Amino acid sequence: MGIVKQTANYSIIGESQGIQSVFDIVGKAAGSDSTVMVFGESGTGKELIARALHENSPRRDKPFIAVNCGAIPHELLESELFGYEKGAFTGAATTRIGRVELANEGTIFLDEIGDMPAALQVKLLRVLAEREIDRLGGTKPVQIDVRFITATHRNLEDSIKEGKFREDLYYRLNIIPLVIPPLRDRKGDIPLLARHFLNKCSENQGKESKTINQEAMQKLVDYSWPGNIRELGNFIERMVVLSVGSTITPRDLPEKVRGEVPRESLSKITEPDFEQSPSEMLQNGLQQSFFMGLPEDGINLKSVVEDFERGLILEALEKTNWVKNKAAGLLQLNRTTLVEKLKKMKITR
Ligand SMILES: Nc1ncnc2c1ncn2[C@@H]1O[C@H](COP(=O)(O)OP(=O)(O)O)[C@@H](O)[C@H]1O
Ligand SMILES: [Mg+2]
Repeated sequence: MGIVKQTANYSIIGESQGIQSVFDIVGKAAGSDSTVMVFGESGTGKELIARALHENSPRRDKPFIAVNCGAIPHELLESELFGYEKGAFTGAATTRIGRVELANEGTIFLDEIGDMPAALQVKLLRVLAEREIDRLGGTKPVQIDVRFITATHRNLEDSIKEGKFREDLYYRLNIIPLVIPPLRDRKGDIPLLARHFLNKCSENQGKESKTINQEAMQKLVDYSWPGNIRELGNFIERMVVLSVGSTITPRDLPEKVRGEVPRESLSKITEPDFEQSPSEMLQNGLQQSFFMGLPEDGINLKSVVEDFERGLILEALEKTNWVKNKAAGLLQLNRTTLVEKLKKMKITR
């Protein structure tokens, strides 16, 4: 199995051709100080790969500092990166070391480099050329010995054409390009990753690991995972918590992954159809549809929870042949509470 690096905290999983070529480049580039630019959609493992480069480099015992250029307000990014001297601006009561300086002798990872404002791009270019930084309000530059790794989910060549990213900076940063393919282009890794996350979640929760049956695994492989490995990892965690029983089957999967119910029917489900009989509603898998999984465009939490509740109530009623005492018992509710709910939800036999 292609594991570049396994530490107490993480391992990188994958045996597809796509990820193996990435591992190959990581292996070759780690030992050098060359600047690496990691390309890939969100959730493909860009930061993980940057860490692997650092951990496999001679700088491994020195700091690895990650900065998300897209998450820090533009006006703060410069002082965050390069620091400031006491008195540089109102409120600068003490000198503060920036992240680039903190990474000295180690590696700095500039994530979402495409979001860096133009004025700062010029300064970064100078830092790369001169290997020194200017703290805000500082009088003399500070020498640095830092390896730069950057990442972006954007097509920077388009950004260059649009005048949003400096071409000279791009060439400086993109000495070794590393392209991480999206998960849908390396489907062979999905079962491996799913089992990895399953074991990890169970371990964290101190439970015995659940298994995924073959049919359910096939559904996971067929799904397109727009959020890539991050989405798969979160998804498996939810399954471990929410699925009933020790084996995960297609019934446990949300509709979007099961891929059986067309998307249009979402609205039909959130607006209960009173034309359907309770058992028809049950057969249509009301509660299963919302068992887990947040659709791309979000959900109406209140109505989804109501639908989930409705599904379970109907199931209890069906199971007990509509004997309300018994149904209430199955739901650990008082009979009167159940009757109130039935009235409110307009559930009749
Ligand atoms: N090949 C892999 N094996 C195991 N876990 C992975 C792998 N790639 C990514 N992950 C996990 O997926 C999540 C997203 O990865 P991350 O590096 O933050 O992606 P990105 O920076 O591209 O958005 C993290 O929790 C990471 O540990
Ligand atoms: Mg990231």
